[in-house]
Amino acid sequence: MAMPGLAPMLTITPPEIEPRYLKSRAEKELPLEFSFHKFIASPPIAVLDAVSPLVKQISLGWIIKKDARLLLELTTVDLPYPGLPKALDGFTIMHLADRHGDASDEGRQRLEKCIGGRTVDIVIDSGDQYGKFHGEPFNRMAIEQTGKALRSVESKYGFFATLGDHDHGTQVVPALMDIGVQPLVNQFVRLPVSDAIVRITGIDDPYRFYTPAAKNILHTGMGGSNSENEFRMVVSHSADIADDAADAGHNLVISGHTHGGQICITERLTIRHLRHHPEFYRGQHLYKDMWVCTSNGIGTSVVPIRYKCPAQVVLYTLKIA
Ligand SMILES: [Fe+2]
Ligand SMILES: [Fe+2]
Repeated sequence: MAMPGLAPMLTITPPEIEPRYLKSRAEKELPLEFSFHKFIASPPIAVLDAVSPLVKQISLGWIIKKDARLLLELTTVDLPYPGLPKALDGFTIMHLADRHGDASDEGRQRLEKCIGGRTVDIVIDSGDQYGKFHGEPFNRMAIEQTGKALRSVESKYGFFATLGDHDHGTQVVPALMDIGVQPLVNQFVRLPVSDAIVRITGIDDPYRFYTPAAKNILHTGMGGSNSENEFRMVVSHSADIADDAADAGHNLVISGHTHGGQICITERLTIRHLRHHPEFYRGQHLYKDMWVCTSNGIGTSVVPIRYKCPAQVVLYTLKIA
C-alpha cells in the first residue's frame, strides 16, 4: 500500500503559497459564507440531510440513479499529441474532482473500489473538497477519507491538488498537505520523467478567485531551450482558464467544477456554470492545439442527484499521435 507523498527531485515555483494571498482569498470567501450559509444554505442542508436516506432508496433506473454518490466509474481517456516527447508516451494522469465533503466510510470505500490497486504516474485533484454549499463548516474528516482512499493507489510522481470555489484555502491547504497531497495554488512544479519534463501548473479557482498571480504563473518559465521536451499541464478548478492557458503555450487543461452538468435533462437544458466557453462543461475538447478536459466529478452539490451524468474519476493517458 503506497502512502501518498511527494516524489523526490521536484521543485515548486514559487516554493510557498503566499500567506498574504490566502488571507486576501479568505476575505473573499466570507461574503459567500454570510449570504449563502447563514441565510439560505442552512435550511436546505437540514432538509437534504432529512430526505437523503429517502433519496438513497429511490431507484428510477435511468431517470434518477439513486443517490448520485452511489455511482462512481473510472473513465479512461487517451489524449493524442503530435510531437509528444517519447518518454511521455503512455504517461498516466488520474484525475479526482469535486468530492464535496463526502466524509462517509461508504464514500471512501466507493472511491477505493474505483481507484484502488492502480499504479499511475500522477494523481491530481482539481478542487471542491468542501461540502454542498458555500460556507458549510469545514469537515476535515472528508479530506482524511480522501487520503485513506489515495493510499490504495501508487503514484510514481506524487499527488497534487488545487482549490475549488467551495474550498476555504486556509483550511484545505494544510489538510491536503497532512494527507500527503501537494497543493499547487498559483504555483508550478516540474517533474523530470526520463529525458522529458512534465510541468504541472496549479491555478486557484478561476471562476471566483482568478487574480493576476494566476495569470502570471501561467506564463512564468515558459519557453526556454528545453521547451520541446516539456509537457505543460494546467490543473484548474474550472476550464475558464482555457484561453489564457492556450495563449501561454500549455498543452492540457484538466478541470472540474461543472459536475458535467450534474442534471442533464437535454443538451440545452443543462447547467454549464462557466464564464467562458460553456461548451467545455464536460468531456474532452481540442482547443488551439491544447486539450481541455472537464470531469463530471465524484460528488454533487446542492442536490444529491445526477441525471445522465455519472460520477467519475478519469484516467488520462498521453499518447503520441
Ligand atoms: Fe464542485
Ligand atoms: Fe466548483
